[in-house]
Amino acid sequence: MSTTLTILGLESSCDDTAAAIIRQSDNDAPEILASVVHGQADLHAPFGGVVPEIAARAHAEKLDICVEEALQASGLALSQIDAVAVTAGPGLIGGVLSGVMCAKGLSAALNIPLIGVNHLAGHALTPRLTDQVAFPYLMLLVSGGHCQFLIAHGPESFTRLGGTIDDAPGEAFDKTARLLGLPQPGGPSVQAEALKGDPKRFTFPRPLLNRPGCDMSFSGLKTALLRARDAIIAEKGGLTVQDRADLCAGFQAAVVAVLAEKTRRALLVYIAENPSQPVLAVAGGVAANTAIRAELESVCEQNGVEFTAPPLALCTDNAAMIAYAGLERYREGARDDMSLQARPRWPLDQTAPALLGSGKKGAKA
Ligand code: KG4
Ligand code: ZN
Repeated sequence: MSTTLTILGLESSCDDTAAAIIRQSDNDAPEILASVVHGQADLHAPFGGVVPEIAARAHAEKLDICVEEALQASGLALSQIDAVAVTAGPGLIGGVLSGVMCAKGLSAALNIPLIGVNHLAGHALTPRLTDQVAFPYLMLLVSGGHCQFLIAHGPESFTRLGGTIDDAPGEAFDKTARLLGLPQPGGPSVQAEALKGDPKRFTFPRPLLNRPGCDMSFSGLKTALLRARDAIIAEKGGLTVQDRADLCAGFQAAVVAVLAEKTRRALLVYIAENPSQPVLAVAGGVAANTAIRAELESVCEQNGVEFTAPPLALCTDNAAMIAYAGLERYREGARDDMSLQARPRWPLDQTAPALLGSGKKGAKA
């Protein structure tokens, strides 16, 4: 019997309100019929970070609009949706609640199944949405809110090999940009400066490289950069254009070195599982960094592992990944009901010890 499933996905866990509709027939490649994202960057910009109350209110206002726009873009009516999937955590609780309430309303009104999705599973399953990557694969989530290595064994089965114990790399890029008077988001502007700089002039720390395992730390890096900046200012009264480029190059080189070494270690653990088609997938805004990408590609090549990165629009927060993760759960028979709870914390790997620290998105999942 042929089964075509059309799933509506909702995402509202941080500062992007999103709705998407995907469709999959049997084992064909899934199709994204619509993916709408309304960012809130302008609302939070004056405060220098995401303000949870402002985010929650904006999500509550924008969710309906996103759903309507997604329906319009897909040419579908609500009656053609088979199930609604929603991010039920981890994330800023007000925003997650807005999404869960909206999804419950749709599920009850349309009498269709409700599926709660872990936001991190959404990111982690994206390589299957875009490239039908087979399990098990190694995943590096690296963004403004996340940084962790996961082995994906199945739609709801992940092993976390390690993650950041404090800042996510994207936050470190953003803070570095702020310290050097560069525009936000910091990643692209620091990368552009780094291209013009000498990565050897400043040697910044490579935190936790001397410790075994795949955990990472990025907050000390920004403190080291601050000290180096202040030392130059104390000596010369200010930063030259070249000083700034060299600081960016040194900072980026440290992030690249840490991610490369931790990736080597994660690959060792993953390869030991004897995957028939070994793949490393990266996702998250920081995966757009060309230096990081090039280094990870080369680490993969040295280890006989295929490297893949979803297109950027699907690497950053979106609802297509939530709809897809919902579809995978649905196909496995998972259903939620009105008791579905919004969860601020929700580790993908329940057996891994909690990561310390709290970043832009709150405590690390
Ligand atoms: O995944 P994402 O869009 O959003 C969340 O984390 O919610 O990631 C955004 C992060 C920002 O911190 C931004 O500075 C960083 O990704 N980023 C980059 C680059 N492009 C974006 N970091 C380094 N290099 C880049 N080219
Ligand atoms: Zn995310």
